[in-house]
This record gives sequence, structure tokens and C-alpha cells, in this order.
Amino acid sequence: MSKALEGVRILDMTHVQSGPTCTQLLAWFGADVIKVERPGVGDATRGQLRDIPDVDSLYFTMLNHNKRSVTLNPKTEKGKKIFAKLIGECDVMVENFAPGAIDRMGFPWEKIQEINPRMIYASIKGFGPGPYEECKVYENVAQCTGGSASTTGEIDGFPMVTGSQIGDSGTGLNLALGIVTALYHREKSGKGQRVTCAMQDGVLNLCRVKLRDQQRMAHGPMKEYPQYPNAEFGNAVPRAGNASGGGQPGWIVKCKGWETDPDSYAYVIAQAAAFPALAKTIGHEDWLEDPEWNTPEARLPKIDKLFEEVEKWTMTKTKFEVMHILNPLNVPVGPILSMKELAEEPALRETGTVVEVDHPERGKYLTVGNPVKLSDSPAEVVRSPLLGEHTDNILRDVVGMSDDEIAAAKEEGAV
Ligand SMILES: CC(C)(COP(=O)(O)OP(=O)(O)OC[C@H]1O[C@@H](n2cnc3c(N)ncnc32)[C@H](O)[C@@H]1OP(=O)(O)O)[C@@H](O)C(=O)NCCC(=O)NCCS
Repeated sequence: MSKALEGVRILDMTHVQSGPTCTQLLAWFGADVIKVERPGVGDATRGQLRDIPDVDSLYFTMLNHNKRSVTLNPKTEKGKKIFAKLIGECDVMVENFAPGAIDRMGFPWEKIQEINPRMIYASIKGFGPGPYEECKVYENVAQCTGGSASTTGEIDGFPMVTGSQIGDSGTGLNLALGIVTALYHREKSGKGQRVTCAMQDGVLNLCRVKLRDQQRMAHGPMKEYPQYPNAEFGNAVPRAGNASGGGQPGWIVKCKGWETDPDSYAYVIAQAAAFPALAKTIGHEDWLEDPEWNTPEARLPKIDKLFEEVEKWTMTKTKFEVMHILNPLNVPVGPILSMKELAEEPALRETGTVVEVDHPERGKYLTVGNPVKLSDSPAEVVRSPLLGEHTDNILRDVVGMSDDEIAAAKEEGAV
């Protein structure tokens, strides 16, 4: 079975998380990803948050599967020549350095186009053009400037960042889509193009419904927010705790064992169509005849009371029992699964979403596999490369250098 992106060669100048997420995904689809790293140093994440001394961190290994690593310094004279040759031999170049870093290496977009007019040059930056375009950005800065933090958190609490890496990995996904779209376009135009993704834009895109709500506020209180009907809304979209954000009310409720297990909770959505079944299950058949409860409009001002009653019932069941009882009744419900539970879930192992990988220096570890499944191009997760593991190989086979030339380049510190 061939891989979807077989034959596509990627010059991977990415580091940390956002860019590597993108190129890892393309590698899983079958692209040949050549990760360029600074000689002797490599991607900074190799050494960050290390759990085992002198071994590539999980941070690095979990973001750089299926890639080859070449060490190269494009700031040296010989390094520039090798880098130019790699640009000529690759289809896509991806980078997420601080603004201007690739230009400072001597490779602005114009030069890249001159070397290889078919090259697709893809970048992630913190911000798009504007007042902040020169800024360096990490995940939480993107969450804060993209609208996520201001709309996440307890109702009367401070802004909150989420544990999901929506700025880094989220933007990496956007970039991957941009790249395959540009590759598709190149089939027709014969030309490469620039693809740029800003992390602020990526986060705001994921917060689309909150910009929707900002505009709805001009036309009266938003009745699905917990602030309705008793609290003030202010002039910007407020934080809404665990309210569902959609048209159906939902909340996180305690389940049996919550006193000792911090994840013994479930999210329950009181969808109108399934409300009679939910009410009966929690012992409130009386609500079905009661005009104070039997319409969504009547329930809206007392959603907190509704979930208090739901919780009285869920506290008598484990989160999995809650799921098993409510799902067949078409009540949407999700147990709060811990990372431990996800790591141990057999179904996720079965689908390749959680994968065990063997690494020559660290041994076996778990990673998240490709979340996108293609029926004719299955992804196989291959361990991340050691620093410079494929340098000789790539210089010989892709750049076309002789052994003597490779030795000379090493001598000069170019590779
Ligand atoms: C993530 C970020 C904040 C990290 O900042 P940083 O650690 O200071 O690293 P920078 O990107 O500024 O710089 C990397 C430097 O290494 C140099 N470098 C990178 N690869 C190199 C190589 N193979 N050989 C020699 N030098 C290299 C770059 O040229 C640059 O040097 P310069 O500033 O002198 O031009 C920054 O890269 C950034 O804002 N990126 C864009 C947004 C982004 O993707 N953020 C999320 C990351 S998960």
C-alpha cells in the first residue's frame, strides 16, 4: 500500500512544537521529512523537560517521529551551499523560527523562489502582519492573544489557559492543510507559493463561537450563559465555567468516588429531545408534567438547579456507569478521562491513536499516533531520529556530496 504523500520531500527547519507537529503529520502521510538541526545542539526540545539524563526528551521524541535528522549550519559558507542544494531538491520548506531568522541566514523568499520556483515555503509565526508581528510567541501567549484565555475560566475567576495545545499543535495542523493545498495547486500551476499561519489567528479560529457571542450580546443577554438571568454580562464575552457553549445546556457533575478521585466527573448535556429520558432516569418524572420544567425555556433560568438534581443521581454511579446508562437514552455524556485512563485504553491502542514506540536510548514509551486515518495510506509510527543520525546519508544521497566533501564540511563545522 503506498503512502499518500510518498515522493514529497520536506526541508524541515522547525523546532519546539508548532512546526514539528505539522511536519510529523506530513511524515505520517508518507512525506520524506529532513529535519535540519544546528550541529552539536539540535532542536532545543531534545534537552527540555528530560525524564532520563542525556536521552532525548519525550517532548522531542513525541513530536518528531518518522523524520530524518541532518545537522547543518546554513550560516557558514559551506553550509549555505548545502542548504541551497537542499532547497533545490525539496518540494516544501517549513520553518517556525522567530520572524526574520531564515532571512538572516541569507535565504529570503525571493532567493528560495529563485533556487526552486516549485518550492512551497511554509511558516508559523506568533502574529500576522501588524503591531505584534516581530514578537516571539509560545503556546500560552497565543491562547491569551487569540481569545481563548479571556473566554475560559470560572465565572468570577481570572482568565485561564487550557491544557490543549491549541496555539502550537492547532496551528501546526493549519499549516499542514495549507501545505497540502499548495501542493495540490502546484499540480495545476507548476509553481510553489508561500503558506503562512499565525498562532493568534489559529486560536481565534478555534474561538469562532465566542466572536459570534460578542455580536449577539448587542441584542440582549445570552440565555445559555450561567450569568443569565441574575449576573452582569459586562461589555465583552464573559467566562462561562463549564457551560456548553452550544444551544443545549451542559455541565460537569460529580460521580461516585469524586471525594478521592480528581477525575470522577462526567459532562452531561440536557439535550431537549432526550430530556424526558434524563428526567425519568434521575427520578424526576414529575418534571415532565410540570410547566416549570417541561420546556427548554422554562428550564433555562434554573439550569444550575437542573444540574444539581442530575448530580444527586450521578453521585450514586461511577462515571462509566453514567455513560453506559445515559448513552442508550441519547443523552450526550462524556466521562472525564484522565491521561492514565487514556494511556491504558485498549480501543485507542487498537486504532493506533495511542502507540508504543521503541527508542534505542530511552526504551519503550507511549505516544499519540496520527489522529487522521486514511484507509489506503495507514500511518506507521517510527521513532524520532537521534541528532544528526542521517547526516551522511542525506549529504550523500540528496545533496550528492562525496565522502571527502562530507569530511571537509564536518571539519569546517558546516554540518
Ligand atoms: C518559539 C520561539 C519563541 C523560540 O525563540 P528562540 O528560542 O529565541 O529561537 P529563535 O527562533 O529566535 O532563533 C533561533 C536562532 O537559531 C538559529 N538557528 C536555527 N537553526 C539553526 C541552524 N541549523 N544552524 C545555525 N543556526 C540556527 C536561527 O538562525 C536563529 O538565530 P538568529 O536569531 O541569530 O537569527 C520563536 O522561534 C518563535 O517565536 N517562533 C514562531 C512562533 C512559534 O512557532 N512559536 C511556538 C513554538 S512551539
